[in-house]
Amino acid sequence: MTRTAVVTGSSSGIGAATKRALEADGFSVFGIDLHGADLDADLGTTEGRARAISHALEFCDGTLDALIPCAGLSGLPDRPGSLLASINYFGTVDLILGLKAALQASGAASVVAISSNSTTIQPGVPMAVVDACLRHDEALARSTADAASSLASYPATKTAIAWWIRSQAVDPSWVDHGAHLNALAPGMIETAMVAEGRADPTIGKFFDLLPIPRGRTGRPEEVAALIALLCSPLGRNFVGSILSIDGGTDALLRTRDWPKPMSTA
Ligand SMILES: NC(=O)c1ccc[n+]([C@@H]2O[C@H](COP(=O)([O-])OP(=O)(O)OC[C@H]3O[C@@H](n4cnc5c(N)ncnc54)[C@H](O)[C@@H]3O)[C@@H](O)[C@H]2O)c1
Repeated sequence: MTRTAVVTGSSSGIGAATKRALEADGFSVFGIDLHGADLDADLGTTEGRARAISHALEFCDGTLDALIPCAGLSGLPDRPGSLLASINYFGTVDLILGLKAALQASGAASVVAISSNSTTIQPGVPMAVVDACLRHDEALARSTADAASSLASYPATKTAIAWWIRSQAVDPSWVDHGAHLNALAPGMIETAMVAEGRADPTIGKFFDLLPIPRGRTGRPEEVAALIALLCSPLGRNFVGSILSIDGGTDALLRTRDWPKPMSTA
């Protein structure tokens, strides 16, 4: 039987590459994005998310084998933080929760959320935003994110995604139904999001200062290949993992912070 997948942010970058990779692996993929997708919906709104969930359920007929919520926005000097709280965090988590019964019904589902290595390499993450997201209080997450700015809120939304995935992944309501949840922490990947940041007159000049030991930024296809592995039968032992795919930036800047011993003697 054909396996079903839903990919958000499917019109560009990592989401588009993921849709192609999963289709090449035999999945039937339903793409959701603002424009140019199988369903155009704004995942920054509760109405858009509800529409996305109901169309996705119709597409997969109640049994979903993979969900890859890629839709997201980066921080920019003139972009409100509230947009990032709603799109990056609630656009990810509400979709996963709304499709939970269909993922459980698969018996072998994969969910791969997109965090970021900004969670570990960007200083000054506003914890009030992380906390509000994890309390599932969208109004508070939006107001704290606006107060913090979108540049600071970006890693906060991505930290909240990573911690939410780790907490949910081991919950029997997922793992006992064969659903395995993981997240990726990409570094700088050449997509429209990075092009938009580079073009910004204030922050653009900092992009090429990011140290990348490997010597180049990543490609969406490299991220998609890892997602495809996580959605394959050989990826089933990954549960609650946050996989860094960043050319070595995190290893360089946070060398001995991970693994963090439980205690030392
Ligand atoms: N590119 C990077 O360097 C990088 C690094 C770490 C994490 N990420 C994450 O990867 C994911 C994919 O980003 P990308 O780099 O492919 O960027 P991208 O801009 O190429 O793609 C993002 C897609 O999300 C869609 N989107 C934005 N707001 C939306 C909304 N309200 N409703 C529905 N769709 C919406 C966009 O239309 C776009 O097609 C994002 O979550 C991003 O935060 C990217």
